[in-house]
Amino acid sequence: MKRIEELSNYIAPYSVIADIGCDHGYLIKIAFDKGLIKKAYAVDNKTCPLENAKKNLSEYRDIIYLLSSGLTDIGIDTEVVAIAGMGGNLIVKILEDGFDKLKNVNRIIIEANRNTEIVREFAVNNNLKIVSEKIIEEDSMFYEIIVLEKGKMELNPKEIKYGPLLLKNKDEMFIKKWTNQLNIYINKKTNKLDEEIKEIKDVLNYED
Ligand SMILES: C[S@@+](CC[C@H](N)C(=O)[O-])C[C@H]1O[C@@H](n2cnc3c(N)ncnc32)[C@H](O)[C@@H]1O
Repeated sequence: MKRIEELSNYIAPYSVIADIGCDHGYLIKIAFDKGLIKKAYAVDNKTCPLENAKKNLSEYRDIIYLLSSGLTDIGIDTEVVAIAGMGGNLIVKILEDGFDKLKNVNRIIIEANRNTEIVREFAVNNNLKIVSEKIIEEDSMFYEIIVLEKGKMELNPKEIKYGPLLLKNKDEMFIKKWTNQLNIYINKKTNKLDEEIKEIKDVLNYED
């Protein structure tokens, strides 16, 4: 829940959300409970997850349930789109396929379980800028939240990979995630990873 709780922190000041791939519906539940939203589109392209969301959200009104792929059927009143718990490739496909639906959307909250660099590349190439980035650890897994709004940004290859704001701040979670990754690579004992290890050590300002 820490991950979903954190996602909810990026909704304000907007109050109409479309949660793409809503599954259990917990993001919408937390957002209503915190008084953050007045309306939600709960979207999933599979019956079981959407039924799950309906069950978990039965006590809330002003939710439109859409058995639908990606952004296809979201309303024009959507202010914030959340796409979480999927790989970067799928998230980018959803954004590409439904790009025209983002015209009135002010913010996109993304949590890609892997391939976050693909999300950042997509943002650079589609006039979206990163306004927040955060790493969350839950059940020994690291999750990266990327919040996008309209606007231009340029990123170098390191910023694409590590995240421009994460790289700038290098907070405790950033150090933990990349130290963890570094140790995984070191333990693999293959010289194919030497460059990778050198780069992470450099990012973490290791001296050896
Ligand atoms: C792993 S769950 C993540 C659930 C929730 N967003 C979270 O972060 O915990 C991914 C959900 O996305 C749904 N999904 C996958 N592709 C989708 C698409 N193109 N459009 C809508 N939902 C999709 C799946 O059915 C599944 O319920």
